Amino acid sequence: MEYVIKLGGSVLTDKSREKTLSESFGDVTDTIPEDYSGTVVHGAGSFGHPPAKRHGISEGSHTGVLETHRAVKDLNREVIDRLRENNLKALPVHPLSFASIQDGDINLRLSQLEAMVQEGFTPVIHGDGVITPQKGFKALSGDDILLEIASRYDIRAGFCSSGPVLDSDGNIIEKVSSMEEFPDLGTDGTDVTGGMKAKIRKILESGTEARIFGPKDLETFLNGGDPGTQVTRP
Ligand SMILES: Nc1ncnc2c1ncn2[C@@H]1O[C@H](COP(=O)(O)OP(=O)(O)OP(=O)(O)O)[C@@H](O)[C@H]1O
Ligand SMILES: [Mg+2]
Repeated sequence: MEYVIKLGGSVLTDKSREKTLSESFGDVTDTIPEDYSGTVVHGAGSFGHPPAKRHGISEGSHTGVLETHRAVKDLNREVIDRLRENNLKALPVHPLSFASIQDGDINLRLSQLEAMVQEGFTPVIHGDGVITPQKGFKALSGDDILLEIASRYDIRAGFCSSGPVLDSDGNIIEKVSSMEEFPDLGTDGTDVTGGMKAKIRKILESGTEARIFGPKDLETFLNGGDPGTQVTRP
């Protein structure tokens, strides 16, 4: 296992239109090579965030679990079908039946992902509603999933999102090592899991290093290059 990448919902979908794939969906998915070794995570985008928001899933909910799950599963199927067209042995992994959050700790059966990769498959896992015992179902973001995997293995971790982290003048920030260095420029669409700000906070809290870059830089990242913004604690 060499990589874990997250294809952002902001890249795969049009976050301003519910359940709509983006124009770049195909190009981004096609960038992942046939010999990719690792896990692919994807966000919920305009498939999962709107129903999750309607049902308050970010805080814990007993309604909307199935609706949200089915919506993200539809996106997962689109991703897998496209990867399969490119000869990647992609397999769906659904957090609703694979993960839980207990006292704030995320439980993922990582050994299962690892075994799939060792057998030459590519697990494709996504943001989803997961059970939090006694508190209903909560949104587990693709960002959290990526970081759980990245913290456990010594692999390259990349967020392919709307683009790198920008300053308020629109210039790339090459390195972020504290929240003070991040200007929150807001979001273009619904995001129940906190958008770019939460992504950066979680990377810093995880103690791992990850890069955030746009779709055009995915190929460079997968070829061993260092595009976009490096996020890591000093
Ligand atoms: N300083 C910043 N630099 C870059 N993007 C920023 C910044 N501040 C806020 N953003 C917003 O963050 C958004 C990307 O985060 P978002 O959570 O929407 O993407 P994602 O995680 O790829 O998608 P998803 O959560 O659906 O997987 C961008 O659309 C942008 O508007
Ligand atoms: Mg997000």
